[in-house]
Amino acid sequence: MESCFHSLNSHLFEVLNQHNENPVHSKRGRVQSPAQKLHVALYNLLESHGVTWTQDLESDFPHSWQQHGDLVVFGKDCFSSSIWKPLGDQLWSSIACSLGVERLAKQGCVLNDGLRSPNVTLLLGDHGWVEHKDNGIRYTFDLTKCMFSAGNIVEKQRIATLKCSEEIVVDLYAGIGYFTLPFLVHASAAFVHACEWNPHAVTALMRNLELNNVLQKCQIHEGDNRQLLLYNVADRVNLGLIPTSEAGYHVACRVLKKNTGGMLHIHHNVDCFLSKHEMGDDNMSAKDNGSSHRIMWRKWAESTEIKIRTFLEEIHNFSWHTTIVRVEKVKSYAPHVDHVVLDLDCRPLPKML
Ligand SMILES: C[S@@+](CC[C@H](N)C(=O)[O-])C[C@H]1O[C@@H](n2cnc3c(N)ncnc32)[C@H](O)[C@@H]1O
Repeated sequence: MESCFHSLNSHLFEVLNQHNENPVHSKRGRVQSPAQKLHVALYNLLESHGVTWTQDLESDFPHSWQQHGDLVVFGKDCFSSSIWKPLGDQLWSSIACSLGVERLAKQGCVLNDGLRSPNVTLLLGDHGWVEHKDNGIRYTFDLTKCMFSAGNIVEKQRIATLKCSEEIVVDLYAGIGYFTLPFLVHASAAFVHACEWNPHAVTALMRNLELNNVLQKCQIHEGDNRQLLLYNVADRVNLGLIPTSEAGYHVACRVLKKNTGGMLHIHHNVDCFLSKHEMGDDNMSAKDNGSSHRIMWRKWAESTEIKIRTFLEEIHNFSWHTTIVRVEKVKSYAPHVDHVVLDLDCRPLPKML
């Protein structure tokens, strides 16, 4: 992906003064940023319809956007004023022209519909397919149908550094392959079972496996992973779903190899708000240096470890040893909410004779 985040710092009236009145003296003065070009195009378009730009429109103007090749995606809080309505499609074609792209879309909130549907609306163009390259891996997907999170990049890069050449991996929430592909392409996993119930994501995942020449090393299990008919196969299980992947804990324990066990990578959004009571007076300095978040991650990790060990012992009917190897932040999800990932090592204990 040629993904750019453009920010607007300039003031509209400075832009327009520069555009309409001031003679251009320097090369720097002549070059307009994409945001300035957009400002000017919209100002001119409104003027040609007899509408005057008001200061109110500043807050309805997109202050950042993502670019995926020839498709620009605006944030959810722009172009909601009724002033744009009479401009019809002319609005979108002028914007596209000023930004030098072919297609436009607008972001909504990711829907909590289980598919993590992106809720992106196409404003101009006839399809939402985009392609981007990340850490040497090619991904293509329809961004109006499949969720894309740029914030998970650090975790994807970490997965890419693992050495999994002897391993069978189960990716319980594969999406378009953001973890499946690094497991196969860089971590050299022997085989990945990729579970996904969004048919649009399955189509993209299939294309991505082909694009990266690893189709032979992956089986896609389309449908609800809780119905997965796999047992006792995995050296490693990835549970990459937020706000929680808890519904996948039982199936993760079922697919883990019962004689050797393996590693679980468990994602979760941890609420890090600590009351004074929870902190304890002695711990107020911990709050100051930010380690209060780590305390909450640890609490969540310890309770998750107990849940997993209980499932493993119920399913297999013998004792297991679990170790919290690592709990790290993937990204900030919201104020006081951290998206974290826990690496939990799970090993069967030798049976007592
Ligand atoms: C957050 S996305 C995963 C994307 C990828 N892990 C990433 O970081 O970009 C979660 C995926 O899990 C899928 N999913 C959620 N619940 C599922 C279930 N019970 N069975 C199969 N797939 C599921 C959703 O359709 C979605 O594509």
